[in-house]
Amino acid sequence: MNQLLSSATDNLKGTVNVPGDKSISHRALIMGSLAIGETLVAGLLEGEDVLNTAAAMRALGADIRKDEDGTWHIHGVGVGALHEPEGALDMGNSGTGARLLMGLISTYPFSTTFIGDASLSSRPMKRVTDPLESFGAEFHGSENGTLPLTVRGTGMPVPISYDVPVASAQVKSAIMLAALNTPGTTTIFEKKPTRDHTERMFSFFGVDTTTTPKDSGRVITVTGQPELTARNLTVPGDPSSAAFPVVAALITPGSDITIRNVGLNPDRTGLFITLKEMGADIEFVNEREDCGEPVADLRVRHSRLKAITVPQDRAPSMIDEYPILCIAAAFADGTTMMRGAEELRVKESDRIAIMVKGLRACGIDVEEFDDGMAITGSREKPAGGAVIETHLDHRIAMSFLTLGLQSEQPVTVDDGSVIETSFPIFRELMNGLGANIHPAGENK
Ligand code: S3P
Repeated sequence: MNQLLSSATDNLKGTVNVPGDKSISHRALIMGSLAIGETLVAGLLEGEDVLNTAAAMRALGADIRKDEDGTWHIHGVGVGALHEPEGALDMGNSGTGARLLMGLISTYPFSTTFIGDASLSSRPMKRVTDPLESFGAEFHGSENGTLPLTVRGTGMPVPISYDVPVASAQVKSAIMLAALNTPGTTTIFEKKPTRDHTERMFSFFGVDTTTTPKDSGRVITVTGQPELTARNLTVPGDPSSAAFPVVAALITPGSDITIRNVGLNPDRTGLFITLKEMGADIEFVNEREDCGEPVADLRVRHSRLKAITVPQDRAPSMIDEYPILCIAAAFADGTTMMRGAEELRVKESDRIAIMVKGLRACGIDVEEFDDGMAITGSREKPAGGAVIETHLDHRIAMSFLTLGLQSEQPVTVDDGSVIETSFPIFRELMNGLGANIHPAGENK
């Protein structure tokens, strides 16, 4: 059992760096593997999801290693020169790794089998296999389109024009990566803008790509078969990881913390905007740009929060942050309404069902909708005291451990090892700020 227990904390103080951005880390490994020459990456997230993508890119032909000072060296093979992997690619818990790599190899004339853990093996893949079939790839596996799946890539891909039916950066990126080894220009329309890290990374490495606003979304074009030049890059801290210490400081009286070097891509800042609207004292200090991505330091102080209705069109820019927003909402005056977030049902777990169950077990008033939740907060501390089932979901684990900092009774999560996926230093970082998060049964 890897149970972790989080108990009451007085205040959080200090300055920390959160690990590198997960989305950008996956993409840095993939693009470095396709560029000619040596790409150096600093600040790569060394969580399990990203390490699985590194292993997969090695299996496809890239030379990837880490030196003693923590810099990652990638020797790419060039677009068109990946080779068939010897065994199945095990993507572990990662929807991003699985979907992006399915896109990438679907326009190469070889077969690749993708496998994953129980969580990943229950997630929908048809959303990527449908457009990839239009390039000419074939998919073999289970009837319902979940992993394990074998992709027979095509050696004669044709460019496509595709309207993405769900708000998903993974689907968009899978198509963009398939387009890389496809002659001609592929066109993608997304109705709602989703994180544009692939677009930024493509431009950074020299891919001929355009992004144009259309209606309330964007049209993206990618012209295939470019020669990519190796680049050096620094991965900013992950705003989705920063979200946990941010909310921990907001709900813990007397707190004043700084998180350095947080990525502030406008397609990722929905949580911070929402928290500020709720009255949060979050200051962006030293705003700058690094390797094509906006970055700042965040100073966060304890704040009295008030409930709001989160605008539905904000969902894509904070999709991974609803679990931790639920915790902030439990401390806000009034009822926080979160709707239009139906994608939460197909994340690492059904995040609506699992949050509702866990919040109720901790004594928090929550109403469930198909596409979201309504949470009524209180000035009283919630009861806590529950053991939360994490269902292989790192963000569920970290959200409830954050709740434990301000609950009457400690909150336990049944499996803290899932946090390795995205935030391996979570416990150490939070305890360094003053939290009490320990293996259940261990004396502090
Ligand atoms: C990601 C996109 C999002 C997000 C995930 C990372 C990415 O998923 O939830 O954690 O790196 O492209 P969807 O594309 O399914 O919304």
